[in-house]
Amino acid sequence: MSQPETLDLAPLDEVIDEFAGKSGALIPILQRAQDIFGYLPPEVLKHIAERTRTPLSQVYGVVTFYAQFYLTRRGKYIIRQCDGTACHVRGAAKIIDAVERELGIRAGETSPDYKYTFEVVYCLGSCGLSPVAVINDKVHGRLTPEQMIRTIRELK
Ligand code: FES
Repeated sequence: MSQPETLDLAPLDEVIDEFAGKSGALIPILQRAQDIFGYLPPEVLKHIAERTRTPLSQVYGVVTFYAQFYLTRRGKYIIRQCDGTACHVRGAAKIIDAVERELGIRAGETSPDYKYTFEVVYCLGSCGLSPVAVINDKVHGRLTPEQMIRTIRELK
């Protein structure tokens, strides 16, 4: 996702207008804002607070409470490698090492060009396919480090 110098808040205004006068709108507005911008930068949160007449502290309170919201920019590709028990015993640690080497970032980090965010999670609910990773919404099962690197290179 390319990042403009100044954010165009017009699509966000459309969303806020849609929810005008509805109670309980803050979370859906934040979700839609994150869909638009990929994360929730301070400018966006301030705009939402002003337009919905919600104290900014309350907006931050919601965003920091729910794990689904991101305050920092994320990569175009979100790579989640499972290191839960089933995946761990089938070699997930080696995949994690290989991905960190390939991308030059550690788990939990985003590459400087904002192409990749790499995360380690603990059970993706597909233990039968272990070791498993999810790249954006696609599940990759029975992975080896080599397959994982090949898959990542194909994203480029
Ligand atoms: S432990 Fe990895 S999918 Fe369940």
